[in-house]
Amino acid sequence: MLRVAVIGAGIAGLACAARLAAAGCRVDVFEKSRGTGGRLATRRDHGTGFDLGAQYFTARDPAFVAQVDAWRAAGAVARWDVQPHVIDATGRLLPSPDDTPRWVGTPSMTAIAQQLLGRQIVLCTGTRIESVSRGAHRWSLHAAEHLVFDGFDVLVVAAPAPQAAPLLVASPVLHALATGAVMESCWAVVVGYDEPSGIRLDAAFARGQPVSWLARNSGKPGRAMMPETWVLHAAPGWSEEHLEAPADAVARHLHRWFAQVVAPQAPEPAWLAAHRWRFARTGHAVVDASAYDEALQLGVCGDWCSGGRVEGAWLSGHALAARILAAQLPRNFVQ
Ligand code: FAD
Ligand code: NAI
Repeated sequence: MLRVAVIGAGIAGLACAARLAAAGCRVDVFEKSRGTGGRLATRRDHGTGFDLGAQYFTARDPAFVAQVDAWRAAGAVARWDVQPHVIDATGRLLPSPDDTPRWVGTPSMTAIAQQLLGRQIVLCTGTRIESVSRGAHRWSLHAAEHLVFDGFDVLVVAAPAPQAAPLLVASPVLHALATGAVMESCWAVVVGYDEPSGIRLDAAFARGQPVSWLARNSGKPGRAMMPETWVLHAAPGWSEEHLEAPADAVARHLHRWFAQVVAPQAPEPAWLAAHRWRFARTGHAVVDASAYDEALQLGVCGDWCSGGRVEGAWLSGHALAARILAAQLPRNFVQ
């Protein structure tokens, strides 16, 4: 049985793991955080949960559309029928309705990671892989306190490009791909009210403002309506400029903007929280969905390989699994 180690339990790593496990591989997934999902994240604070990273996803590729249908049938996703507004550079708020199907995990984004995990995958959370090494034919993974996990035929690195690069030095081609990928940061702020805010919109894309996106988190399907929570995402330029600013100063600043432009009548919020995503978004695909060094049995996947977005990450992991399985075929025929 082919033994595969996957570093990173975001949607790309889990999509890859799920497809490999379904094909009969033994898959171990290593994740540095306490939970799974990566940037498809639901956080808890002040007794409630909110989507701090990905806000929703769209599905355009037929394979991902089929996957979303399956998640919907399992009750793990629901359509979010939001009618967005836009905020222009002068601060004007205008309705901007569309008929784009947008999807969210239910009751939270992490439901998707749980669907992908299934029973056959061994998950090791709270384990940051610091380095990897390859013996004659097998990979070993090294974590803190001299912990070693070894005996893997194939290694999949499914971390954001800057975190993937040091784990890919064995393959100059894959290493160069990861060091060449550009990832931008994003400050996320959560605004919590303990009484209804009275705000008359549910979500907005903003242009030429410090914030590029805002949404009523508590209005998404499956979320608790109260306490009312809003998530604001800072624009890439603003986030880069304030990358090292203290979180509470960022929260206050972006809330002040929100109160002026969107919520002049709203009560004072009960609480604010800010989180910095250092490697949040990526612009262009750097390879054709994923890349695999067959000689080393080393692969990379992630949204940075596939143009960003949840859909891109899933397609990337799915494509890498197919490459790994295809590379095994000749050997299996010989046996
Ligand atoms: P990740 O989710 O980053 O997963 C990688 C995992 O690897 C992480 O869990 C990380 O902890 C782990 N890891 C890294 N290094 C190591 C190591 N050394 N050892 C062990 N584990 C490691 N997309 C949309 O489609 N719609 C949106 O509305 C949207 N909004 C977004 C808003 C924000 C603020 C952010 C940050 C992202 C948003 N995205 C959105 C993008 C989307 O979240 C990502 O494209 C997608 O989730 C990336 O998945 P991934 O598996 O490639 O990477
Ligand atoms: P989508 O089709 O809803 O949006 C794509 C883009 O089209 C939006 O960014 C927005 O600029 C524009 N748009 C869509 N509907 C609009 C409307 N009704 N009115 C005005 N403009 C509209 O979703 P898709 O393609 O799946 O993109 C995902 C979203 O995730 C994007 O908004 C993207 O910016 C966001 N994202 C954010 C990241 C971050 O770090 N904050 C990282 C990765 C993605």
